[in-house]
Amino acid sequence: MKPSISILAPLVALAPSAHAAYQLNLDSRDSMKQVTSLLAHDMMTYYQGNLTGQTPGLLPGPCASDLCYYWWEAGAMFGALVNYWQYTGDDSYNQVISEALQFQKGPEANFNPPNQSKNMGVDDQDFWGFAALDAAEAGLPDVPGQPSWLALAQAVFNFQTNLWDAKVCGGGMRWQVYSFNAGYNLKNTISNGGFFQLAARLARYTGNQTYVDWAEKMYDWMAGTHLFQETEDRLWIWDNTDTNNGCIDVEHHVWTYNYGTMLSGMAYLYNLTENATWATRASHVLDGAFKTFFPDTLDGTPPDSNLGGNVMTEMQCEPTSVCNNDQSSFKAYLARWMAVTGQLIPSLQPQITAKLRTSAQAAMNQCIGGDNGRMCGRQWYSSVWDGSSGVGQQMTALSVVGANLIDSSMVPLTADTGGKSASDPNAGTSAPIFPHDEFPEITTADRAGAGILTVLVVFGMAGGAYWLVS
Ligand SMILES: *[C@@H]1O[C@H](CO)[C@@H](O)[C@H](O)[C@H]1NC(C)=O
Ligand SMILES: *[C@@H]1O[C@H](CO)[C@@H](O)[C@H](O)[C@H]1NC(C)=O
Ligand SMILES: *[C@@H]1O[C@H](CO)[C@@H](O)[C@H](O)[C@H]1NC(C)=O
Ligand SMILES: *[C@@H]1O[C@H](CO)[C@@H](O)[C@H](O)[C@H]1NC(C)=O
Ligand SMILES: *[C@@H]1O[C@H](CO)[C@@H](O)[C@H](O)[C@H]1NC(C)=O
Repeated sequence: MKPSISILAPLVALAPSAHAAYQLNLDSRDSMKQVTSLLAHDMMTYYQGNLTGQTPGLLPGPCASDLCYYWWEAGAMFGALVNYWQYTGDDSYNQVISEALQFQKGPEANFNPPNQSKNMGVDDQDFWGFAALDAAEAGLPDVPGQPSWLALAQAVFNFQTNLWDAKVCGGGMRWQVYSFNAGYNLKNTISNGGFFQLAARLARYTGNQTYVDWAEKMYDWMAGTHLFQETEDRLWIWDNTDTNNGCIDVEHHVWTYNYGTMLSGMAYLYNLTENATWATRASHVLDGAFKTFFPDTLDGTPPDSNLGGNVMTEMQCEPTSVCNNDQSSFKAYLARWMAVTGQLIPSLQPQITAKLRTSAQAAMNQCIGGDNGRMCGRQWYSSVWDGSSGVGQQMTALSVVGANLIDSSMVPLTADTGGKSASDPNAGTSAPIFPHDEFPEITTADRAGAGILTVLVVFGMAGGAYWLVS
């Protein structure tokens, strides 16, 4: 049962480009820091939330046009900037990060601000929760008089445990928090896998067994659904399953961040519990990610030496140039989560480092566009700029180069190893048990947007699934 892939993009030689804007030297920390700093600077040209009259924490929107970013991606960006501070020691953005996270926390301090209700997905909250955890794990000081970084993440966790839906498909959470939003019928991997990672990280930071138990409960449910599929050569982690259909089948799409969130959650659990089962599972997910997103070839023809199984590629959308703004950022998370996994499961570090090095070098071949001649596109396997640029493209390059700067001084902190973010296990409030009863019916026009647009956009793509397991 091999996946049949029909992707028609031409392959372009991946020789080090003579006219690359960046001359990245992976054996020099100075070189890597310098490149990372420019990538971050260019990413932040999209952010105006700290200017007078703008809303802190938001990227350009609303999403009626091409140049717009959903709320979640801003949260992800601030997380990447926390990582940036760790990687480089450059704290220029720390003030902006703190302001944004505190401004968007919402009235219940659980990343559920009313302005975002009409799009609010479990996964959207998770990315803001991850950013808060990045801050706690990196030792970014809590803001005096405001909820701690840890408490913000605990509040997201507390909110989401009430969304556990045992009545339908045996458990898990629906993608959308509110039933009036498109996608409420789906249970998707990034929402459930996002909660899994959130619980695992809270478990390791606090040592509280309740978080371990929830992470296990979530993993057990996911692994028992069709979201996880074993074929003879690998583990597939598919995107979503439909409650309207009793979750008897799945959307056959694969995304880097879905593998990444499972991988990192397993790594945190292994590091905390030292239970080898989690390391074995992580290794299996990593193997699936390597086989799926570090291809030898883009189109099923004989292996292409320019790829060599070493360049991270968003196979579902890059070769056909159909990635949306959400999807253009996904590789950033896999890169970061692979790097952290290498720290938390040291036996996996050598193979992870090898892939992150080749991918970072390849990414530089794509950072040759835009007015400044160094904006990054998506197709790292090509040395011809793909004509695209944006927050996601910058974030992926930033994240993959930055990941090569990770060292033993940057292991995620815990309360026992110097983490000072204050714990509040009862932070925030619980989600209403029937959240759809709490809000008035909204109009069809309001339904246009919906969380991370993996699903809806993909439905509209010509030909549907590129990856089919027959
Ligand atoms: C906004 O943040 C950018 C960094 O992204 C910084 O260069 C700029 O000075 C800040 N502006 C204000 C008004 O704080
Ligand atoms: C919500 O929207 C209003 C109106 O645009 C704005 O003034 C406010 O700052 C927003 N709040 C957040 C948390 O984004
Ligand atoms: C390790 O974790 C697995 C999966 O949760 C569990 O079945 C097993 O009992 C655990 N082993 C130990 C020694 O705790
Ligand atoms: C957990 O991570 C730390 C930091 O990298 C590492 O030293 C330690 O060996 C890891 N624990 C296990 C059980 O591998
Ligand atoms: C552990 O977390 C649970 C769930 O949030 C909470 O009820 C409990 O009080 C916490 N225990 C400690 C010792 O903090």
